[in-house]
Amino acid sequence: MSKFQINSQRKLGKISKYIYGQFAEHLGRCVYEGVWVGEESNIPNVKGIRQDVVEALRAIQVPVIRWPGGCFADEYHWKDGIGPKENRKSMVNTNWGGVTENNHFGTHEFFELCEQIGAEVYINGNVGSGTVQEMSEWVEYMTMPGQSPMADWRRENGRDFPWKVKFFGVGNESWGCGGNMRPEYYADLYRQYQTYVRHYSQDKIYKIACGPNVDDYHWMEVLMRNAGHFLDGISLHHYALASYWENKRPATGFPEEEWFSLIDSALKMDELITKHSTIMDKYDPDKRVGLIVDEWGSWLAVEPHTNPGFLYQQNTIRDAMIASLTLNIFHRHNERVHMANIAQMVNVLQAMLLTKGDQMIKTTTYYVFDLYKNHMDAELIDVTGLGSDHTDFTISKKDNVLTISICNYDLNNSDEITFDIRDTQVSSVIAEALVGTEMDQHNTFENPDNLVKTNFTDFNLNDNHSLTVNVPPMSVVSLYVQTT
Ligand code: AHR
Repeated sequence: MSKFQINSQRKLGKISKYIYGQFAEHLGRCVYEGVWVGEESNIPNVKGIRQDVVEALRAIQVPVIRWPGGCFADEYHWKDGIGPKENRKSMVNTNWGGVTENNHFGTHEFFELCEQIGAEVYINGNVGSGTVQEMSEWVEYMTMPGQSPMADWRRENGRDFPWKVKFFGVGNESWGCGGNMRPEYYADLYRQYQTYVRHYSQDKIYKIACGPNVDDYHWMEVLMRNAGHFLDGISLHHYALASYWENKRPATGFPEEEWFSLIDSALKMDELITKHSTIMDKYDPDKRVGLIVDEWGSWLAVEPHTNPGFLYQQNTIRDAMIASLTLNIFHRHNERVHMANIAQMVNVLQAMLLTKGDQMIKTTTYYVFDLYKNHMDAELIDVTGLGSDHTDFTISKKDNVLTISICNYDLNNSDEITFDIRDTQVSSVIAEALVGTEMDQHNTFENPDNLVKTNFTDFNLNDNHSLTVNVPPMSVVSLYVQTT
């Protein structure tokens, strides 16, 4: 039993909608099959993009999509992915399964996808194996409104008006798959490459440098010191693992201790953001520079009989806990975390959606993003009080609605929580939830609605200023409190 006081007039910063970003890499079946089926496909599509996926992603209001990688980004040559499809050069995806792809999904198709979903664009450029000129011309191709060699080429390929590139990443994991660089060298390369990421219009491009791997605080220090003035954001990657010693533990049928070890690993995100942010504060006390957590989520064993290089994993109520707890951490660090992109959108790692032929299912993680969507661009609200060990929540306010999202990751016990809301008048409360009954409960193509969001009624509003909620074990509950 826990008690909290909501101080609804005390606002603790705006939760950027970009925290709800997605990541779509040319990896396994994320782009090909997951998003792109081609115009000739029997699967309902518009301009080659499957509509079941678009519709599901529109419903959770995806604000931004990062593309084309990941490790793939540093081997991607954008000019191979434009123009008539039959003339496009194929390429070997050396990072992910060694498969050959035909480059039919390129720049134009990516912008089409974002337009259909209503998302903004985060392009990740190639530093590892690409040139400064190549990166610079890509930006010119996408954003130059007037006449220029690249803008004219874009028009020849069917797009008159420039697109808006909101975010641009200069390399990915440059300490690893993106070139195995040392931070001093990368910081210099970053300064050089970003110089030629030009602004061709009033729309300022938010430039993101490749940041540290997990707890590489030295990388952060060097980058902030040597390149801090030239960047808007620095990326951070952290994946939750169920075992530190043995990578890739099963996504389903796991023992009880791995329920908690995966959650503990995810909760490390708080420490990482706090410590990296402390280093950033030294060089950027005003928190102008964003920490961009552009890869996060659980990394588990692939499904049996699937290509290990495709990273196709199942998604259970445990993943829903990971999503909810991690989003709560991002909310609390809203001053520093300007964007986050869960890995990845479809069919890869902790995905929103899984597809098989013409079938598509929503994962437990999808439902958390659905339950949490009110927090986008809302004000984080102050709360005081003491709770139990396995419960965590976010309370935010937007348009006179307080959204209270609670995660109870206890395996057996519900938590009765009372929220005192004395400083405002409550007129009504409605609620929804995702409630697990087994710790590896998940949806399958045979049983797609095994675990879905439902209406939730186990709460009481007393005298219009005290709300008692009985939060079931293994659940995420969102209450929408209308205030006057
Ligand atoms: O998301 C899968 C991979 O994980 C990305 O390509 C890479 O950046 C990271 O190591």
